Amino acid sequence: MKPSILVARAIFPEVLKKLEQVFDVDHNQADEVLSAAELQSRMRGKLGALTTGSERIDAEVLAACPQLKIVANMAVGYNNFDIGAMTAAGVLATNTPDVLTETTADFGFTLLMATARRVTESEHFLRAGQWTKWSYDMFAGAEVHGSTLGILGMGRIGQGVAKRGAHGFGMNVIYHNRSRLTPELEAECKARYVSKDELLKTADHLVLVLPYSAASHHAIGAAELALMKPTACLVNIARGGIVDDAALAVALREKRIAAAGLDVFEGEPRVHPDLLTVPNVVLTPHIASATITTRMAMATLAADNLIRFLTEGKALTPLNPQVLER
Ligand code: GLV
Repeated sequence: MKPSILVARAIFPEVLKKLEQVFDVDHNQADEVLSAAELQSRMRGKLGALTTGSERIDAEVLAACPQLKIVANMAVGYNNFDIGAMTAAGVLATNTPDVLTETTADFGFTLLMATARRVTESEHFLRAGQWTKWSYDMFAGAEVHGSTLGILGMGRIGQGVAKRGAHGFGMNVIYHNRSRLTPELEAECKARYVSKDELLKTADHLVLVLPYSAASHHAIGAAELALMKPTACLVNIARGGIVDDAALAVALREKRIAAAGLDVFEGEPRVHPDLLTVPNVVLTPHIASATITTRMAMATLAADNLIRFLTEGKALTPLNPQVLER
């Protein structure tokens, strides 16, 4: 008999087929996000699960699913996992690093350009039939090339954003991170380490690429926004909750910063209603890694983690490798 797994959301048919060759798969083809109770009942008795950021794996879920051995997240971020509880329960956690780094860094730049150059705001104006003549300051935005790019969170994706800014756009790159990069990596990224305060005060554009945790909750709130330049753009491709969205909406409305580009939101897919009514914000529905090639690579890596672990006891990208040693 094949081992049973749950695939908690719809995925590429090719990847599903690959999993079905090895496992008895319960697939949530309807693709509705499962409630905690539904997740527990569908995962009970399964040895593994493929999840996305929308399924929370915590002590309560784990207690209800004692046969569970592995949960493979199809995402690099894993704030939906309680890693401590998973390790205590002997459940391996995996994510999908590396395969999405460059694609996500591309999107950081997409949002930065769209925000600084007011792309969506001007498109709405045009579509609404309001474009009747050229004028010297129509949708004049902020310069990107040659400006100072601030990056908060300098992991792989942050470094990708830094390289694009420094090498492609001649930007002066500054960053803040929990730990400083090695001198070699700083040279590669042409990035200078600064304090968080200096980052906020000096960046012409600030891109957030740090993981979400209790420590990074509201890392950008009213006080931090007040330190930023009134001409600055803020881009969040990290996680909702890192920015205090209510405070950001106020800062945008009062033009305390120039504009924001947001791919992630507190409590998404809900979006703070005030963000929907301010014009100087570019909003996208959590699509930074969304190219077909990258999403396929992410799904394949998550599937390969399940296959390798449940057939050979090994994993490609474990988050709590101590479980493998038991
Ligand atoms: C997307 O947000 C991811 O963490 O991969």
